[in-house]
Amino acid sequence: SFAGGANELRAAASRIQLAPEGYGRTDVWTYDGQVPGRVLRLRQGERLETTLVNDLPQPTTVHWHGIRLPNGMDGVPGMTQDAVAPGGRFDYAFSVPDAGTFWYHPHANSAEQIGRGLSGVLVVDEAEAPEVDRDEVIQLSDWRMTEDAQIDPSFGAMHDMSHAGRLGNWITVNGNGALSKPVRAGERLRLRLVNTATARVFALQLQGLEGWVMAVDGMPLDQPRTAGELLLGPAQRADLIVDVTAAPGEEAFLVSYERNGGYAVTAFPVSGEAAQGRRAAPKALPPNPVPEPVLGEGRTVAMPLEGGAMRGLQSASYEGRRLDWRALVQSGQFWAMGGVAGMPDAPLVEAARGETIRIPMENRTMFPHAMHLHGHHFREIGPDGQAGPLRDTTLIQPGETREIAFVADNPGDWMLHCHMLSHQMSGMGTWIRVA
Ligand code: C2O
Ligand code: CU
Ligand code: CU
Repeated sequence: SFAGGANELRAAASRIQLAPEGYGRTDVWTYDGQVPGRVLRLRQGERLETTLVNDLPQPTTVHWHGIRLPNGMDGVPGMTQDAVAPGGRFDYAFSVPDAGTFWYHPHANSAEQIGRGLSGVLVVDEAEAPEVDRDEVIQLSDWRMTEDAQIDPSFGAMHDMSHAGRLGNWITVNGNGALSKPVRAGERLRLRLVNTATARVFALQLQGLEGWVMAVDGMPLDQPRTAGELLLGPAQRADLIVDVTAAPGEEAFLVSYERNGGYAVTAFPVSGEAAQGRRAAPKALPPNPVPEPVLGEGRTVAMPLEGGAMRGLQSASYEGRRLDWRALVQSGQFWAMGGVAGMPDAPLVEAARGETIRIPMENRTMFPHAMHLHGHHFREIGPDGQAGPLRDTTLIQPGETREIAFVADNPGDWMLHCHMLSHQMSGMGTWIRVA
């Protein structure tokens, strides 16, 4: 039985109030009638068992983004399972080996299905979590809506596929236009930021809050990093610990910056009452000590680097693994990876189990791409050889060159694709095979 609170995930059409006040209700696709889907919450090592019930008018699956699970549970139609037809069901069952912030979404016709509202956050709690006063999930999303507050049906528009993807005109946080979370001065919060937008990159800053990035994409950093400006590409997550440094009566904010300025995506009105206990300091509010890096107990993901040296680097076919993204407009598939547009018949990489794989990527396009690997976490290696934290999605800017390095130790066929879903739709995907 499933400890997270749902034995069933029902994907179905619903009608909810999504648009700003003054507009009518919107027809969306939801899990269990909610936007976003409920937060599934388990403890590290627990087993998730849930049945997808498909009441949608088209086939679907569930993909458990970032979870290290057996290949047959990965939710990729035609690769790891058959798509679940309308009226059908599929049982998902696996244990969640690593603690952190993950999410779930369909992996069939993803641009439309996620774009119509299907996604939810999956939290796996540490056996011993850092002590905070509250723990908040903040799911950032955007929507493209028509003037009568309906979901714009232009999924697969040529312009989106060949440019920056489907950017919305309505941004929501946990399904609301403006999220407000009352806090008290001096409180310590854990904020789990999740970008479930189909293409938007959020540039985030804290105001009246002092924070540290503890983990990205569900994997803890070796050392917490001061949270300055935080770029969160599609599918990326960041776990922050923040202290409320604003005084009673003030407001603190999580702000999103766009080219035309910033606006609050989440407001934290600070009540007149200060937090009691550990850090009660309503007047001076000195910054709290940096939280100990206590996350990551028993992490099962292997670090691909030891002492800065790469193990098992296969140099023989290195060049053949170069991804290079070019517009191939004539074929209708706008993006090429390793010279192939669209999902290739053969895997990009065939890895022996336990082998360290290094895939160079070079963004020769004018748009950022959010490259995501299934079933594994990788380290980003910059051109200077500097290795970043473990993650499952890397945001590569135009002109950037970067490698991802990972230990291929989860057997099966796993996708590597852009999480800007219009790009995925127009051919920006490949796969690897781990023996
Ligand atoms: Cu979150 Cu292949 O996707
Ligand atoms: Cu994934
Ligand atoms: Cu892309």
